[in-house]
Amino acid sequence: MSKITAAITGIGGYVPEYILTNQELEKIVDTTDEWIMTRTGIKERHILKGEGLGTSDLGAPAVLNLCKKRGIDPMEIDMLICATTTPDHLFPATANIICDKIGAKNAFGYDLSAACSGFLYALVTGSKFIESGQYKKVVVVGADKMSSIVDYSDRTTCVLFGDGAGAVLLEPNTEGYGVLDSILRSDGSGRIYLHQKAGGSVKPPTHKTIDDKEHFVFQDGQPVFKFAVTRMADVSAEIMERNHLTGNDVAWLVPHQANKRIIDATARRMEVGPEKVMLNIQKYGNTTSGTIPLCLWDYESQLKKGDNLILAAFGGGFTWGSVWLKWAY
Ligand code: UT7
Repeated sequence: MSKITAAITGIGGYVPEYILTNQELEKIVDTTDEWIMTRTGIKERHILKGEGLGTSDLGAPAVLNLCKKRGIDPMEIDMLICATTTPDHLFPATANIICDKIGAKNAFGYDLSAACSGFLYALVTGSKFIESGQYKKVVVVGADKMSSIVDYSDRTTCVLFGDGAGAVLLEPNTEGYGVLDSILRSDGSGRIYLHQKAGGSVKPPTHKTIDDKEHFVFQDGQPVFKFAVTRMADVSAEIMERNHLTGNDVAWLVPHQANKRIIDATARRMEVGPEKVMLNIQKYGNTTSGTIPLCLWDYESQLKKGDNLILAAFGGGFTWGSVWLKWAY
């Protein structure tokens, strides 16, 4: 019997309506459009507004968009993994809430926490359930409502993040398409540079943690930048080398969208020209788990069957990784 691989057979996405521009941020904090554009490449980001709305309200419409485009009923989904750093609640899992909201009553699922590498980790995890032969339709969602943990008085972080979600459907393939190789890495000692100080079991919420603004993203940008540039490029080069791929063989680099300068450095190291790099940071900012599937969503019409894609991410943890996949449709 031929080997089963997990192929992406559909994509959905969702970004909320409200757009927060650099010009609007100029009125809130001491920043400029010029600084944000030259240091990050971000022009605007989408923000989920409205009382009582959370990450599942981004993930659910992304999965429904996927189901509609592929013409499948949510009842056909066997499993749903939601990569997120901003779950609706500490428990239950946002994956369960998404399944409830879309009527995926036959699916089991859970959340996966790996910050900005969450989608890659979840994609590889979901692929294994397909490769085992036990499951036929696995949905992997990357969704984050970053605005719920961003301090809009801190100019060093509030310009970076946005809200959004993307989802892919994985199905078995026996013709050699889909996820063909992956490298996933982590180094917990990097947590000091990028984390949320309070709200977990080490420091449960108190009036003091709120007064001290410890429920927001803390980032020491420069060390994160240095690690991101080298690690993301390292794993992208490594996955190419061990599969004998050159820059010419790669149709698309699909990078996590945290900073255009990190993306450019990764592409240079892979010897992949800018015309083959998926980029949407200018309109969404850093949506954490959402960036890679939102790139696939935006570029879907340009993808061709058999294209070699290298997905690459770096994020809090530290976590990082790369995936080689062959586009299936
Ligand atoms: O996705 C998860 C992983 N995260 C990342 O990959 C992010 C990695 N880090 C970065 O992308 C960059 O470090 C940042 C975009 C966050 C910051 O860019 P930078 O070039 O490293 O700037 P910096 O932190 O070294 O700050 C340079 C200057 C500082 O002023 P002084 O001390 O030189 O006077 C900052 O206070 O820029 C100042 N600054 C700003 N100025 C205007 C910081 N944020 C802003 C701002 N507007 N929004």
